[in-house]
Amino acid sequence: MMKLNKYLLALLICAAVINLSFAQTKKLLTIKANQPVADIQPTMWGIFFEDINLGADGGIYAELVKNRSFEFFKPLMGWTVKQPLRVNDPMAALTSPVLVVNRKEANTANPRFIRVTVDHMAKGNLGLTNEGFRGMGIKKDLRYDFSLMYRQVATGIKLHVELVDSNGKFLGGTTVTPNETGEEWHKIAASFTANETVLKAKMNLWFEGNGVIDLDMISLFPEDTWKKRPGGMRADMIQLLADMKPGFIRFPGGCIVEGFDLSNRYQWKKTIGPVEERQLIINRWNIEFAHRPTPDYFQTFGLGFFEYFQLAEDIGAEPLPILNCGMACQFNSAEVVPVGDIAPYVQDALDLIEFANGDATTKWGKVRADMGHPAPFNLKMMGVGNENWGPQYIERVKIFTKAIKSKYPDFKLVNSSGIAPNGDMFDYLNKELRGMKADIIDEHYYQKPEWFFANAKRYDNYPRDGSKVFGGEYAAQSDHTVSVNNKNCWITALSEAAFMTGLERNAGVVSMASYAPLFAHAEGWQWTPDLIWVNNLHSYGTPDYYVQKMYANNKGSKVVPITLNNDVVAGQDSLYASACIDAVTNELIVKIVNASATEQSTLLSVEGVKKLDATGKLLVMQSNDLYAVNSFEQPQNISPKESTISIKSKKFDYKAAPYSFTVIRVKLQ
Ligand code: AHR
Repeated sequence: MMKLNKYLLALLICAAVINLSFAQTKKLLTIKANQPVADIQPTMWGIFFEDINLGADGGIYAELVKNRSFEFFKPLMGWTVKQPLRVNDPMAALTSPVLVVNRKEANTANPRFIRVTVDHMAKGNLGLTNEGFRGMGIKKDLRYDFSLMYRQVATGIKLHVELVDSNGKFLGGTTVTPNETGEEWHKIAASFTANETVLKAKMNLWFEGNGVIDLDMISLFPEDTWKKRPGGMRADMIQLLADMKPGFIRFPGGCIVEGFDLSNRYQWKKTIGPVEERQLIINRWNIEFAHRPTPDYFQTFGLGFFEYFQLAEDIGAEPLPILNCGMACQFNSAEVVPVGDIAPYVQDALDLIEFANGDATTKWGKVRADMGHPAPFNLKMMGVGNENWGPQYIERVKIFTKAIKSKYPDFKLVNSSGIAPNGDMFDYLNKELRGMKADIIDEHYYQKPEWFFANAKRYDNYPRDGSKVFGGEYAAQSDHTVSVNNKNCWITALSEAAFMTGLERNAGVVSMASYAPLFAHAEGWQWTPDLIWVNNLHSYGTPDYYVQKMYANNKGSKVVPITLNNDVVAGQDSLYASACIDAVTNELIVKIVNASATEQSTLLSVEGVKKLDATGKLLVMQSNDLYAVNSFEQPQNISPKESTISIKSKKFDYKAAPYSFTVIRVKLQ
């Protein structure tokens, strides 16, 4: 079990002692249901997606073959060549049947391919094995779609595709016979069904016959992708996102937007069109942490901006792309583009709006339409820069803002307030951005649970007019930021739930919020904590996930006051609360966090309504073990339990269990 942080321990003991004296007293929580104080934006609770922790490649991108186009630094990384032993052959060590060829002049996006010389081979002698991303997750009775691109001068080679387990046991396969010849590349595809479920399978490709063949884009996808789209996303992972009913999805990050240096920045135009023409780059998380190196982490862009927009549409979330503002990551190279050379970066932003919203008569709208989506994606907002800071950031933001607003005056821009929610960097940016009347300011809080508890009132005194706040990245750190010991446990989730009552109460100031990072592969992560953990076959939501889901599923449309002794409920006796009305369903929604070790009796007094339904819906997350976690074995160990509450009158009792987060929904009559 994780060690208790001393400060947190003291805090919890104090809270427990104080609570003993209050435990018996019923607390009157007054709700003024007819006095809305702010609108809750439909975007309020959303998702932050970044290709970190094998989030895209090896994650939601369902491709099972690693390094399918041989573009990793080491062209055969992920692949093993199997060939017969050539004893008494002095040339054996010098001549490999697999040659890596680079046609950089002819194809800058996908320069490499392999040339395989098959010299009168029977099946099982010459082959290639792909290890997948920490193995390949294979499911019994599921169809697998294999494909590759090839070219050859003459026919004569047959390819046997097979999936095997770690002992080499056959799990399913097929045979393809490339029969086109000439200079052109051709695609060949075949499908087969797996006969077993295996967490870490491998794919063999055996060559039979005689001849020379060029191969590229060797690919294997499961049939059961999200919406059954060929070459699509892992359905179980996307389902967890859809279940949240998120108001927005931010993509593609995160620091990945900035890149280690400018050449490594995310460039959306290189992520659209045919997948074989999308130029791979190193994933910056490959080398970011010396203690978590991931040498096989690259961005193939099999998922690109078109797919992210489509995903947003699928799950009913507003798209929020974040673009590079002419600055690389300031923790790394900190390169900036001279202001005089920034025009292409600004043009990328303008073109993205046209790509998302323009009709097929526009250059970029046509690209989108040709990719299969003639209708616009209705992009309304965009981030300029991720965690950028300093006067050089403000200088560049001004240029972007002027260019975008003069063409699209109603378009909303999200700007960075740096890496932390306070300090000189934050104060400088916050002042400058508010001075510029920035639309939305992105604040990041990677802090300890006690910070989240203590900051439930953070926005109570923020200016109500002017720039809105986007809690763009946050997660309670059970140890400390970038510590490998951080866990997604109940105390982190509970502290976020408490903090979020303050976000909801201040929905007039805070228009959006998202936990970060989103996904982590159990064997391929660089950063923890994360909202959702996966392996090759399974995924589960952390306690933090369920808190996010409870908020997003119970969003409401108008904040109404809830008070204890005429004050907001923000930590008195470790109690936190917020209330809102869902104008569509005509329901009152109350959220209560009891962060103390004892049960707290409350009396909820709802004013300004005629009557409440006799039965309300109750969702409760509770555990006495603050360090309890979810896992592949117990994915719902800490998750909400549904029940009902009987409501006798406009004043009703609710006992908030120790260490609990509750959502009450009741119809107004
Ligand atoms: O969420 C992980 C990283 O934290 C993001 O990429 C970055 O924006 C922040 O520093």
